[in-house]
Amino acid sequence: MQKDDLLRLMRDPNLLPSEKQVLLSDIASQAAAMDLPCYIVGGFVRDLLLREPVNDLDIIVEGDAIRFGESLVKKFGGKLTLHDKFHTAIWHLPNSSDTLDLITARKETYERPGALPTVIPSTIDDDLHRRDFTINSMAIRIDGDHFGELLDPLSGQADLEDGLIRVLHPRSFVDDPTRIFRAIRYEARYSFNLEPLTLNLVNPEALDVIPKLSGERIRHELDLIFEEKDSSQMILRLGEFGVFKKIHPKLPLFNADYSDFLEMDPTLDIPASRTVVAYMLWLMDLSESEILSIGQRLYFTTDQTYSIWAVSQLKKSLPFLTGSSPSVWTYALEKLPLLSIYVVYLVTREDALLDFLSIWRHVKPHTTGDDLKARGLEPGPRFGEILHQIRAAWLDGEVSNKEEENDFLNSILNGHSSR
Ligand code: CTP
Repeated sequence: MQKDDLLRLMRDPNLLPSEKQVLLSDIASQAAAMDLPCYIVGGFVRDLLLREPVNDLDIIVEGDAIRFGESLVKKFGGKLTLHDKFHTAIWHLPNSSDTLDLITARKETYERPGALPTVIPSTIDDDLHRRDFTINSMAIRIDGDHFGELLDPLSGQADLEDGLIRVLHPRSFVDDPTRIFRAIRYEARYSFNLEPLTLNLVNPEALDVIPKLSGERIRHELDLIFEEKDSSQMILRLGEFGVFKKIHPKLPLFNADYSDFLEMDPTLDIPASRTVVAYMLWLMDLSESEILSIGQRLYFTTDQTYSIWAVSQLKKSLPFLTGSSPSVWTYALEKLPLLSIYVVYLVTREDALLDFLSIWRHVKPHTTGDDLKARGLEPGPRFGEILHQIRAAWLDGEVSNKEEENDFLNSILNGHSSR
């Protein structure tokens, strides 16, 4: 692409918000002042060339990224987090919650398949050659007069035009099998294809490295997939490639019928995470020990594993609850995570679950402990029992206003309640 055409894309506010354009030119002028060759790399370049909106800036310098970061903070403000080992810094931008990665151009070597790479400072050319796919191995130089020059040593632009995902060398997936997950993500996100040789490299040798990946790294890739619009297509494709059994022998295929359930109903005020919903849908039909074991492999928090387990338990106990009164439902559901209940509702359409989430859980009697004290009762376990009985009467429609609640309380205190 010609420099002028690229500049036009970089100045299009529909693609790059104006404040980011200002930020970019600030970085560019500071790099020029320090005589530091400076580039934007990776997803930014790929998406800009696809005329997709871009936001995340990854900045690479041929030189010391940490020193560059310090000079940016001195001139423009904000804060820096340093990663000395990788010669990188994260710039926390002034007056904003945004951050920006500043990276020293580097060469990487993998001491063993699946391990994190060893890093040595190097040139932008080496840096582009260490990457996953040609479409991610382009850079735009931004310092001084170089602003807007495209570097494309691996013909990423041609692959973008042809819709191809191509690794840079045959050992790419063996070095880093998280790239298999990434390839599948780009394939569905952009409706691209894996270039035939790349497709062949998703082979047993590469798949056999997946068990060596840490749970955190696998989990991160799965989370990224579940955050995508077409996540169900991606997760089915991972299954087709035989990735799941390599993550954990008991990890099942994702049930395609559940794909539509990944969207939350925004009218329900439940704290929700799309990724947790996805794991619930994926794992809910497994046994307790399988859920625990997969939870450990994928580094779930205790709360997350518990909420998945709660889905499986509730789903199993549903036949025993069906037809019960609202109060029985409410007391059975109350101790479970709301999101677990919602997911069981999604897959069973049991109306009582939705009634609980939207109405029953909010039902509270007017009477309080203080009212009972005022009536001369001694505080103790009996308090809880009485309040519980009144609440049940509300839930089951035996009481529907304050007066009736008072009458009901009188009947309990006089020992006439049927409950
Ligand atoms: N990268 C890589 N191998 C990986 C992970 C990342 O080579 N296993 C490189 C790619 O060049 C990628 C860049 O690091 O473009 C930044 O990675 P990341 O932020 O994860 O991806 P983006 O390119 O920003 O793309 P997206 O987040 O849209 O997937």
